[in-house]
Amino acid sequence: MTGRSTSTVPRLVDRQPGMTAKELVGHLIPPPQFAHASLENYVPDERYPSQAAAVEAMLLFTSAATPVRKLFSRKTTMEPMRPGVYLDGGFGVGKTHLLAALWHRTHGRKAFGTFIEYTALVGALGYREAVAHFRGAALVAIDEFELDDPGDTMVMSRLLGELVSSGTRIAATSNTPPHALGEGRFASQDFLREINALADRFTTVRIDGEDYRKRDIEGHAVSLSEVEFEGRIEGAAGTVTVDGFRDVLRHLATVHPSRYIGLITGIHAVGLTGVEVLHSQTDAPRLVAFVDRLYDAQVRIHATGVTLDQVFSDDMLAGGYRKKYLRAVSRMIALTSMIDDGR
Ligand SMILES: Nc1ncnc2c1ncn2[C@@H]1O[C@H](COP(=O)(O)OP(=O)(O)OP(=O)(O)O)[C@@H](O)[C@H]1O
Ligand SMILES: [Mg+2]
Repeated sequence: MTGRSTSTVPRLVDRQPGMTAKELVGHLIPPPQFAHASLENYVPDERYPSQAAAVEAMLLFTSAATPVRKLFSRKTTMEPMRPGVYLDGGFGVGKTHLLAALWHRTHGRKAFGTFIEYTALVGALGYREAVAHFRGAALVAIDEFELDDPGDTMVMSRLLGELVSSGTRIAATSNTPPHALGEGRFASQDFLREINALADRFTTVRIDGEDYRKRDIEGHAVSLSEVEFEGRIEGAAGTVTVDGFRDVLRHLATVHPSRYIGLITGIHAVGLTGVEVLHSQTDAPRLVAFVDRLYDAQVRIHATGVTLDQVFSDDMLAGGYRKKYLRAVSRMIALTSMIDDGR
């Protein structure tokens, strides 16, 4: 019991993180909760055969890293695999787990990051430097391949093309199959051409299933009464912040999403008061990016107001970012329901 009062706890809005290229590079490893993710501790759900098939595909992808020619044979022993594998599936089916497992199995120089982290790094290093940095790496793993910006897609597509020609293999995850990326968002022909060129580099592995995070929890995020909220904040272990929900949204608008990680570094729980339904189409993707970082770091959320699974309006859920919003909902349900493990 820390006996802190909510009026003296730190606020997210007072944090102004800056991240150098070096810090961004240093961050290219799987998030802590995937430190021990392996193909062995991924338990395929028997009701969804695509899960066991995905494990097989990962094994094949790692073993096919160097196609070998048999002694006395002119033929290579296996069909040349595409240089990339793309895990496509719903939320919480274990895509990031499998991606991290692949990363752990890969020897040599390798990187693991979200799409947004790679684009931020290209921005910080410059394109040529970024190519030089990753060139010849054994594996570049890209989690949450999502396209919010045609410019970013073009850059990533070019970068991946150059890396593939240097022998680097690419593994990616997304909630959207590659040919459908950008669907309902941008119609530019250039953009579609780029997406298709990108997609041709990947073997798509589809994973069906239920949200693993929902196997144990109810379908709603937890909303606390004011008294409960105060109690949680006072009793919280480690560093906890308290902010108004609207204030956080305003603050997120002033920080680049690639720096949200710096916003929550060292924090064990965030308190959000007065959660309400979002009104702005620009606030929504920022909240998603913020929740992603909270989820990666397993930062618990204590909230009052509207339950966090209901913040995206029906209009938003009917648009091109539907899957992204539903994923954030799944993650907020998990983070508001976390059992206090005394961290
Ligand atoms: N089949 C499984 N066996 C063991 N653990 C699993 C399995 N599926 C998921 N998990 C665990 O459940 C949690 C959620 O999985 P993960 O984050 O990999 O899902 P995801 O498909 O990447 O979800 P999202 O779409 O939200 O990114 C992780 O802690 C992961 O280790
Ligand atoms: Mg994931």
